[in-house]
Amino acid sequence: MTFEDTFLADTFWKRPITLVRGRGSRVWDSNGKEYIDCSCGYGVALLGHCHPKVVEAISRQASRLLTCHGSFYNDAREECLSRLHKIRPEGTERVFLSSTGAEAVEAAIKLSRRFTKKKGFIAAVNAYHGKTMGALSLTWASKYREPFMPLLDGVKFAPYGKAEKVRSLIDQDTAAVFVEPVQGEGGINVPPQEYLRELREICDEKGVLLVLDEVQSGFGRTGKIWAHQHFGVKPDILCSSKALGGGVPIAATFAREDIMGSIKRGEHSNTFGGNPLACAACTAAVDALIGEGLVENAREVGEELKRGLSSIGSSLVREVRGLGLMIGVDMRFETMGMILRCLEGGVIVLEAGKTVLRLLPPLVLSKEDAKTVVETVSNAVLEEEKRRKGA
Ligand SMILES: Cc1ncc(COP(=O)(O)O)c(C=O)c1O
Repeated sequence: MTFEDTFLADTFWKRPITLVRGRGSRVWDSNGKEYIDCSCGYGVALLGHCHPKVVEAISRQASRLLTCHGSFYNDAREECLSRLHKIRPEGTERVFLSSTGAEAVEAAIKLSRRFTKKKGFIAAVNAYHGKTMGALSLTWASKYREPFMPLLDGVKFAPYGKAEKVRSLIDQDTAAVFVEPVQGEGGINVPPQEYLRELREICDEKGVLLVLDEVQSGFGRTGKIWAHQHFGVKPDILCSSKALGGGVPIAATFAREDIMGSIKRGEHSNTFGGNPLACAACTAAVDALIGEGLVENAREVGEELKRGLSSIGSSLVREVRGLGLMIGVDMRFETMGMILRCLEGGVIVLEAGKTVLRLLPPLVLSKEDAKTVVETVSNAVLEEEKRRKGA
């Protein structure tokens, strides 16, 4: 028994290992066993663990200034903003900083209401936007929602990938449509090519905002800086977090100038948003992402990994899908056993819903590593086949 078992709130399904060290695509447990990490802390360690540029930046910043509230100017924040400005989604001219994905979504919810003076939202079936009360209101799964009712009023859900359904749900009181360009937690779902463009057209026609949640799909994960760039649309608001700080908590809500301008001083703020340590990490993370060709690697190695997983050739695999290094293997059974078998085989993978194995490897994953991952997943599928035959 550890303090994590006896003292920490029991809110996570625990893997039976203790991780103590990481470097690049690898992590090590307390027994010295090495793993290829295709979980990256649910998408955070996208540059690889302990990227040297990030480590150097936070070490330097830690001895200069650890905290600086948003009510003061700060040099590390200024530098970080210059990098975020470089990668800002087209059409967005302002950014609000916070620390987590759910916080980025909360800011988007408040901005949408403030700007449109309306209160309703449309989200997608299987959407995941976080677990704070506002973000939870836009999250689909009833197992997360039901125990905490009542949530925000006026939220409706439309099937993912079907823009016309959204049109039929928009009414006089709809402020915004929230959508993940590729759904993560909901099963690594890539929408039809025209979906986001149609949503954009519908939102423009009806005077409703289009909010893209790229907390998981953003920052190079899918082979472009932002996943929505695959689909040729511009967001009104975009939420980003997870990988943005190279492993350190930071989140950004980008918005159009007029939308961000609708919120007045003091109406939305926080203590940690734009803190120097997170900002230094984010500056280094953007520099590493752009300077080291990692986005291209996501595309190339992602294709290789998807091809390998698609060739497993078992009737237990329903589909392999994804974009770049955001990949799902949809199985014909619940995946918990597979996750543990892969762990034994030295590869950490995630779940997404009940039947999808989710792979969010770091963008530094090599083609050799990708082969090992395919072999390990393939062995886990074979074992499942054997188990079923024996049963
Ligand atoms: C698309 C998306 N939005 C929001 C969140 C919430 O982020 P956080 O867990 O940092 O609050 C997540 C987390 O997985 C996510 O995948």
